[in-house]
Amino acid sequence: MKKKIMVTGFGGFVAGSVIAHSQNDWEVHTVDRIEVPAEQGNVKYYGLDLLNRERLAQLFIEINPDAVIHTAALADIDFCENKQDIAEKINVGITKSLTGLCSKTGAKMILLSTDTVFDGKKGMYTEEDSPNPINFYAETKVKAEDSVRTLENSVVTRLSLVMGLPVMGSGNSFLAKTIKKLKLGEEVKFPANEIRTPVDVITLGKSLVELAGNDFRGTMHLAGSTRINRFDMAQQIAEKSGYSKDLIVATDSNVMEGRAPRPNDASLDNSLAKKVLKTAMRSLLEGLELTMNFKLEK
Ligand SMILES: NC(=O)c1ccc[n+]([C@@H]2O[C@H](COP(=O)([O-])OP(=O)(O)OC[C@H]3O[C@@H](n4cnc5c(N)ncnc54)[C@H](OP(=O)(O)O)[C@@H]3O)[C@@H](O)[C@H]2O)c1
Repeated sequence: MKKKIMVTGFGGFVAGSVIAHSQNDWEVHTVDRIEVPAEQGNVKYYGLDLLNRERLAQLFIEINPDAVIHTAALADIDFCENKQDIAEKINVGITKSLTGLCSKTGAKMILLSTDTVFDGKKGMYTEEDSPNPINFYAETKVKAEDSVRTLENSVVTRLSLVMGLPVMGSGNSFLAKTIKKLKLGEEVKFPANEIRTPVDVITLGKSLVELAGNDFRGTMHLAGSTRINRFDMAQQIAEKSGYSKDLIVATDSNVMEGRAPRPNDASLDNSLAKKVLKTAMRSLLEGLELTMNFKLEK
């Protein structure tokens, strides 16, 4: 019999890849607050606002998952800065609910946190470095991490900027939006001051599913092998995809009005992931090729 995995946030960008990469080997149960699509093969969808603790607990008991990959969150940094109450409820409150449920059954809990828990003054952060959030979104993620670490059977993953096309559903893909604009010959702005280690969504989905099924516990950075600023990254993506790199325009997010602060250099060291995981961490262009050519097996 297949083991059961619960994936939160099926309508999201990263969850689509997690579901695609778990559906062959796991019995997949996935939850979001949007309309539920028809059951597909091994994947069972549930419509639920995860803020509803009672219903979440009922569903959790019904499914009794072996592992939970918690992708659902409010991931819009500026929205979180402006709506702190709701950001706290969703990013911290729901994580705490799931932590409590996993602690009762022993299910392995995998949290998706972020490179932006760091202040961006140093770069190439390892799992040993201490977070120092500079915006509210990152503050909520640090609290969520702390909650998950109270469970022995847990993994806190910190994701770099996620690059790729949505595998299922939609979610927030900067690559999809960029390509759409480039096709129309429109300019696209990217901050040159933000240095990241982008991870492609295919490698990321595979890594998260691997972590659900292996013996690793603790914190792991899931990041690509290319350290690059977002402007240069977008120029390379444009060129590689056959568009003019002149359509990519450099900005500086440190001087943009009305935006929450972003860390300048939030690049992550992926040595631990390379050592522990069978899934290979990729360079920017390898990751781009993977996401462009990915075909969903049904
Ligand atoms: N994408 C990145 O570059 C990146 C980088 C670092 C870390 N992360 C983290 O990785 C995770 C996945 O990111 P993503 O880009 O896939 O985010 P996403 O596309 O915004 O997906 C999140 C999903 O969670 C759902 N959700 C939110 N609140 C919910 C609730 N109360 N009940 C049920 N579902 C709810 C969202 O629904 P709504 O659309 O209705 O809100 C959405 O479908 C997040 O935890 C994010 O913080 C992402």
